[in-house]
Amino acid sequence: MPKINENYLNLKESYLFSEIAHRVDEYKKNNPDKDVIRLGIGDVTLPLSKACVDALHDAADQMGKAETFKGYGPEKGYEFLRKAISDYYKRNKVDVDPDEIFISDGAKSDTGNITDMFGSGNVVVVPDPVYPVYVDSNIMCGRELTYIDANAGNDFLPMPDKNMQADVIYICSPNNPTGAVYNHAQLKEWVDYAIANQAVILFDSAYEAFISDPSLPRSIFAIEGAKKCAIEFCSLSKTAGFTGTRCGYTVVPKDLVFISSTGKELSINSMWNRRQSTKFNGTSYIVQYAAAQVFTEEGERQCQENIRYYRENAKIIADTLKKKGIRFFGGVNSPYIWFECPNNMDSWEMFDYLLNNIQVVGTPGAGFGKNGQNYFRLTSFGSKENTIEAMKRFEKLF
Ligand SMILES: Cc1ncc(COP(=O)(O)O)c(C=O)c1O
Repeated sequence: MPKINENYLNLKESYLFSEIAHRVDEYKKNNPDKDVIRLGIGDVTLPLSKACVDALHDAADQMGKAETFKGYGPEKGYEFLRKAISDYYKRNKVDVDPDEIFISDGAKSDTGNITDMFGSGNVVVVPDPVYPVYVDSNIMCGRELTYIDANAGNDFLPMPDKNMQADVIYICSPNNPTGAVYNHAQLKEWVDYAIANQAVILFDSAYEAFISDPSLPRSIFAIEGAKKCAIEFCSLSKTAGFTGTRCGYTVVPKDLVFISSTGKELSINSMWNRRQSTKFNGTSYIVQYAAAQVFTEEGERQCQENIRYYRENAKIIADTLKKKGIRFFGGVNSPYIWFECPNNMDSWEMFDYLLNNIQVVGTPGAGFGKNGQNYFRLTSFGSKENTIEAMKRFEKLF
């Protein structure tokens, strides 16, 4: 009999979204005439930009002709896309070499698979509340996690504590689920901490395109020294509506080098290249060709148009909460709005209260960790009409 990876037994049942679906289905069955509005979704709703759709058609035609057909692609992804991403970083005043960029099918795979780079016995630090992939992917390989509290006291932006021990640190900014965004000085503290403690920062910037405040860093590599201590994960899912098309990229700097127990230099860039070329055969040419459009002037303009639409939704939600005197985080520089449940309700009570009284569905904060117990997440990914209608109903309720 094979010895099964029993670490899977340590995973907590992931019941958040299935429980939400179950409660909504039940409600709809009993109230078929009610109009339920979903503001809990973490998926985009606007279609792909025209620039990307045209490129998908073009690439499909290329695949149908012997002269332009493409088989297996280069290990790290096509040069044209890595160069386009490197130039995008440059436009944001960040220097990233195309050789440090690895194209993937999305940030979920990479944030999950990066665990392959690290051995056992590490102190792995994650914030609470947290994007669950960081937690579950570590539990699957037998690692324990150390949680640092993100709460209203620190504006949901936990900072390193000098006495804290950490080898691997997960940071997500703009944050899912809280919408909080680290500023330059705060990220500098994390980078300084990581360098002083020889730790690595795994920086998830899946929502960087939502940052509108030019003073806020969109990349960990905007911080001096970060190339010595950080890996960055990025995604076209929310930037360009690629949740179903699938494309992301991970930046592993060449300067990210650690010393093995036998004194050998370990380049994480080379190790990740080896890992990816062994276990992953690349994102399809068609998708990479379309992804390159995201970084052209016209493509970027079209993506920004969609992001502007979501930003307006976020503002509609944020303005309503402000008006009602409900404390919240996020809502600007982020598609997420994380509000404190009024009247001492816990997050599941809030869920039922909103569903039963105004037929608005959100995400209970408890699903992201103990510090989410009294918080509730709304997203700006719905339609404008639905967002306006949901907030009208919300205003009447509180
Ligand atoms: C923080 C965070 N990282 C990564 C992802 C996954 O992105 P992708 O669609 O590129 O796999 C998500 C998706 O919701 C996310 O919220």
